[in-house]
Amino acid sequence: MSIVQSPTSRHIMGVAFVFLTMMCITPSVRAEHADWRGAAVSPLTAMPVVDPRKVQLGELMFHDPRLSADDTISCASCHDLSHGGADGLAKPIGIGGAKGTINTPTVFNSAYNFTQFWDGRADSLEEQAAGPVHNPVEMGSTWPEVVAKLSQDQDMLSAFQKLYADGVTADNIVDAIATFERTLVTINAPFDRYLKGDQTAISPQAIRGYKLFQSYGCVACHQGANVGGNMYQTMGTMGDYFGDRGNIDASDLGRYQVTGREKDRHVFKVPSLRVVRHTAPYFHDGSAKTLQDAVRHMAKYQLGRELPEQDLDDIIKFLESLAGEYIRFETK
Ligand code: HEC
Ligand code: HEC
Repeated sequence: MSIVQSPTSRHIMGVAFVFLTMMCITPSVRAEHADWRGAAVSPLTAMPVVDPRKVQLGELMFHDPRLSADDTISCASCHDLSHGGADGLAKPIGIGGAKGTINTPTVFNSAYNFTQFWDGRADSLEEQAAGPVHNPVEMGSTWPEVVAKLSQDQDMLSAFQKLYADGVTADNIVDAIATFERTLVTINAPFDRYLKGDQTAISPQAIRGYKLFQSYGCVACHQGANVGGNMYQTMGTMGDYFGDRGNIDASDLGRYQVTGREKDRHVFKVPSLRVVRHTAPYFHDGSAKTLQDAVRHMAKYQLGRELPEQDLDDIIKFLESLAGEYIRFETK
């Protein structure tokens, strides 16, 4: 085991943080967990769907390239639902081949994140959706432009009018998309079936991985039903990630860009690990090409540990068991 060099205060704070969190988690976590209540990771359940017709319209909007300035890019261009809800790139490609500045996270289970975006600058899915439409390197459009285009389409116009008294508006487009996004939940993961009592749902190796995930302290940050998405943490709690990587740009500043507070420099929303097996490459900068790389970096920079190969393999098997199924919501 090697401890990476880090300023002592940071080191102690990191250890104290992980330790305190471990203490707060009830003992049932470390014991057997036939009953998952009170455990660090809980099963993911589907969200109640309010209006299936809105889901259907939202799904259409999600796949509609007219939300971009030149009708080439839809939400699904970057959030491909058949590829883990992301794009498989280190940084996304937007309109006119423009290169984005930060890695595309998955849209699956994003309804379970306490805030949206790597830096948490949107409080809701509704607030989030305006971001890409206006982003010059993503869709490069404006709501009035989008509304004008969609209103010229007779079918679209009447689809909106059936559901919303005021027809096609920015708020209604966003409402439909967000409603659809709430159905993008991956339920029934092998790990969830294990948590609910099916001891054979995952392999003994994945069970060992879950125990290691807890004992190393990964659960201090990645926890709850989304195995992440419920707190902000510094990237590099126990090591100088950005110093080692170099070339720091604005997207590395994390929450600092939102709050302007020095203590928020390099602080990010802890990402959900639910569908992580499908969303390489990893981290906000897309720098970790494989899940192995990502977990090795996590151990080093967030925990000050070097993982033996066997432990690394076990943890990967656990992470792979977290992905459930997306059951497309059918409307009649
Ligand atoms: C050009 C690629 C691209 C397009 C098009 C795009 N996104 Fe994204 N999406 C991203 C990137 C990159 C981020 C992360 C940005 C950040 O954190 O600053 C993101 C973040 C998100 C998030 C937050 C997820 C999380 O865990 O924080 C959601 C939800 C989302 N997008 C939904 C949408 C919707 C809905 C649309 C269409 C209106 C859309 N995206 C269009 C690339 C794209
Ligand atoms: C101190 C908090 C903390 C601890 C402890 C921690 N993580 Fe993370 N994890 C984060 C943050 C923050 C990120 C996002 C970093 C970034 O993108 O720059 C992250 C990202 C990841 C990612 C990449 C996800 C993606 O979609 O890009 C994986 C995989 C991961 N962590 C696994 C682990 C594992 C396994 C452990 C234990 C060995 C662990 N983490 C321990 C906070 C933590």
